[in-house]
Amino acid sequence: MSRPILLTGGAGFIGSHIAVEVARAGHTPVILDNLCNSKASVLDRLRTIVGRPVEFVKGDIRDGELMRKVLREHRIAAVVHLAGLKAVGESVQKPLEYWDNNVVGTLRMLEAMQDCGVRSLVFSSSATVYGEPEQLPITERHRLMATSPYGQTKLAIERMLCDLSASDPRWHLCLLRYFNPVGAHESGLIGEDPNGIPNNLMPFVLKVANGQFKELSVWGGDYPTPDGTGVRDYIHVVDLAAGHLAALQKLDTMRCEAVNLGTGHGSSVLELVRTFERVNGVKVPFVMKDRRPGDVTSCFADPSLALSRLGWKTKRTLEDMCRDAWRWQQSPAARGN
Ligand code: NAD
Ligand code: UFG
Repeated sequence: MSRPILLTGGAGFIGSHIAVEVARAGHTPVILDNLCNSKASVLDRLRTIVGRPVEFVKGDIRDGELMRKVLREHRIAAVVHLAGLKAVGESVQKPLEYWDNNVVGTLRMLEAMQDCGVRSLVFSSSATVYGEPEQLPITERHRLMATSPYGQTKLAIERMLCDLSASDPRWHLCLLRYFNPVGAHESGLIGEDPNGIPNNLMPFVLKVANGQFKELSVWGGDYPTPDGTGVRDYIHVVDLAAGHLAALQKLDTMRCEAVNLGTGHGSSVLELVRTFERVNGVKVPFVMKDRRPGDVTSCFADPSLALSRLGWKTKRTLEDMCRDAWRWQQSPAARGN
């Protein structure tokens, strides 16, 4: 049965890929986004991929009246809540903006959902809630701690959702803890389009490969890992999007559950760079630099709960992630056209 699914922050990197999966599954995605970190032009490209227009409301999750209107008028069945600010470094400089946008925004949205009787929600959480890993791979029972204001907001929202669930059994809540989403849709029409100088590895690799930057700085070559560089669990954004669909399908059986979305496999910075060069036939010059403050040595998921609880696991490889990300980077859309 077709259900209208509200995607807050749905014009962004991950949300646009979820819109495709939701539409492909026969549901109706409704995107609400204030476009503070995305562009309306993504809607044209989404229409090309899914073959019909995707509904869009320009607005802010902190606007309770608008949220009520959208929930009622579109007869929303469930919400995938992605809207938020996500830059770790910026959150240290502007903590109040992060608490306001992420935490107050979520609070206003939940009040609106409660008023409208919409009590099904999938939340975009992050592996950042585990802080410095104590055990690897990381299971959902790993202790929680935050090392940045951004991480604090994710933890605060998780706790708010669990309190809400405890207060009223009619809520169905799933907290998806993403590891490192990279890659792009295989059409090359949607992908990650960060403003300014990218902080994250894959977006920076792309801009070195296309000549925008001379070289990649590899932050630390002396970690206790096989090649000395940091290890992360990179997950293809289309696999991640499919994980949301699996969560939506199981939501009715959940009260408030946290589930990791990762591959279970760690790759080093140099492994990613070499894979990228090999599959795309381009050079990515790099220089070794000191460790980046705040970085952990290794971080990768135990994804077994996602398999047993959601029936979901990743299908795409690091090669796919590198190939699809490069295809997107070379498209006119990624160059702002
Ligand atoms: P993104 O910035 O591309 O997408 C977020 C979208 O939310 C943007 O389109 C932005 O315009 C919108 N937005 C922000 N504040 C809003 C508000 N108050 N009202 C309405 N819209 C608002 O980021 P993304 O990478 O797609 O991340 C989506 C979610 O996943 C975020 O909550 C992020 O914290 C979480 N997450 C991302 C990663 C990652 O590495 N990309 C990892 C873990 C978790
Ligand atoms: N790295 C470099 N050079 C760069 C950028 C990154 O060597 O120019 C290295 C980092 O040191 C790290 C690895 O590449 O070893 C991955 O770094 P990213 O910045 O891409 O990702 P992080 O794991 O640091 O953090 C990301 C998000 C966080 C989120 C976390 C877990 O930025 O918000 O994944 O989901 F919390």
